[in-house]
Amino acid sequence: MAITLAFDVYGTLIDTYGVVVALEKHLGSKATGFSSTWREKQLEYSFRRGLMQNYQNFAQCTRDALDYTCSYYKVPLCQVDKEELLDAYKVLPAFNDVKEGLARAQKAGFRMFAFSNGSAEAVETLLRNAGIREYFMGVVSVDEMKSFKPNPAVYSHFLRRADAVGADAWLISSNPFDVIGAISAGMRAAWLKRSPDALFDPWGIEPTLTVDSLVNLDELIFKGE
Ligand code: LAC
Repeated sequence: MAITLAFDVYGTLIDTYGVVVALEKHLGSKATGFSSTWREKQLEYSFRRGLMQNYQNFAQCTRDALDYTCSYYKVPLCQVDKEELLDAYKVLPAFNDVKEGLARAQKAGFRMFAFSNGSAEAVETLLRNAGIREYFMGVVSVDEMKSFKPNPAVYSHFLRRADAVGADAWLISSNPFDVIGAISAGMRAAWLKRSPDALFDPWGIEPTLTVDSLVNLDELIFKGE
């Protein structure tokens, strides 16, 4: 059976650090710290909403996290500025290795999907703007389950939607919580270690393999078989 790849989107294909450029205008040297806090809160809000079963989509988590981060950094942004930042989140760039990695993986015959916390509409827009939509057979969003990663139900949902089974399906993600979630739900998973300083959570659940770039993914997955 052909191998199915589920690519995480934010932080894996798409560089959320891209908002720093938009943030610098308002925050100067605080932009990098602000961007990290915003991303951490966005994920925390998604985890909490998933646990509480109080679903609002990922864009709402992003919006709420922006309000929190403005208060935390004591940056009184007006609504127009906030909307501008939220708009920047819709047109973020892909990382440098993404196009080549996806093209090689497609050539190697993998069935490729984007699989994200983001709504299908938001992900379609992001992938199209980044010029990488053509590599995917489809976009699977957790929004269809009204929950978030790493709820095991969303990984099962992915397998159903992609018509795949866990043993033949790999999550590719730079987010350790996503890798652990996928393996725990019966998939295989490659951790894309985008920075030498990135840490993997010490839970006793290891990635099926670790890569530092998407470019060699095709070869590495065959090695991992
Ligand atoms: C996503 C988040 C986890 O794209 O980055 O699903």
